[in-house]
Parts: sequence; C-alpha cells; structure tokens
Amino acid sequence: MEIDYQLSDDVREKIEAEAKKYPSRRAAVKSALRYAQQEHGWVSEGVVNSVAAMLSLQPIQVYEVATFYDMFYTQPVGRHRIRVCTNVSCMLRGSKDVLDQLKNRLGVDVGETTSDGKVALFEAECLGACGGAPMLICNDRYVENLTPEGVDQLLSELD
Ligand code: FES
Repeated sequence: MEIDYQLSDDVREKIEAEAKKYPSRRAAVKSALRYAQQEHGWVSEGVVNSVAAMLSLQPIQVYEVATFYDMFYTQPVGRHRIRVCTNVSCMLRGSKDVLDQLKNRLGVDVGETTSDGKVALFEAECLGACGGAPMLICNDRYVENLTPEGVDQLLSELD
C-alpha cells in the first residue's frame, strides 16, 4: 500500500497559493486534493498524507473530504473518467439511454474501469448544466445535449 507520495513542486506551489486565499489552511483541502488528483490520477493514502502534511492537518481531516465528494477517487480509476448525470432533467431527456450506450460500448458497468485501464464510468448527481441535458462530464470537460452520435464522437476522441 502506498503510504508516501511526493507531490511535485508544481502541485505544491498551487496548493500553497490556494492556502494563502483562506484564513484557515483547512479550507484549502478540496483545492489541494483536486490538484493532487490531477497529478496522481486518484487520491491514494499517500496523497492524503502528503496533502495533510502540507496543510498541517491530520490525515483524517483530508480523508473525510476525499470521501465526501464524489469527484475524488479513493481507488485507482481509468485514465479518462466519464460521469453521466442521471438527475431529473437529464433523466427526462434520456440519460438512461446515454448510460446504456456507454456501458455497451465500454463493456463495463457503472463504477467499473475498462480492462485496458482507459475509461472509468460513473453516474453523477446534477452537475449544474440542466439546460444542456442530457449531459456528462469527461475528465474536466462538460459534454452537453448528448445524442448517440455525440457519445460515439466522445469515445473516439479519447486516447
Ligand atoms: S440534472 Fe443533469 S445537469 Fe442538472
């Protein structure tokens, strides 16, 4: 199990810049985890320990944030993360069909990663883009007004 993880200088600088914005370093945990996850791919125990040390917190104070927000992955996931919104607006506009298409194309169920480690598929609660329903987020990119062709196009763009 990875207990130690060395954050890069670039990530450490970004975390320090975030921490300076708040009266308490604890307020920077979410931003710190976002930068660390972008670099490492997921939030391992080593990442939690490194972020905690940087922000002068106990690891549990970082871990509780990492496990509260579903955009943080506490297990290894695919290089690309697709999160399909299945909340009300998207559900009414066909998100189930989008999800079924992705499951079939990728050969995985929700919460799983393809065997080649390329894509992980998740459901998401409302992502605040109801006007573009049905929609998903792929890594950090919103893809809205999805059609079957749009889903195929998205998958063809993933390396
Ligand atoms: S319900 Fe899907 S973005 Fe709001």
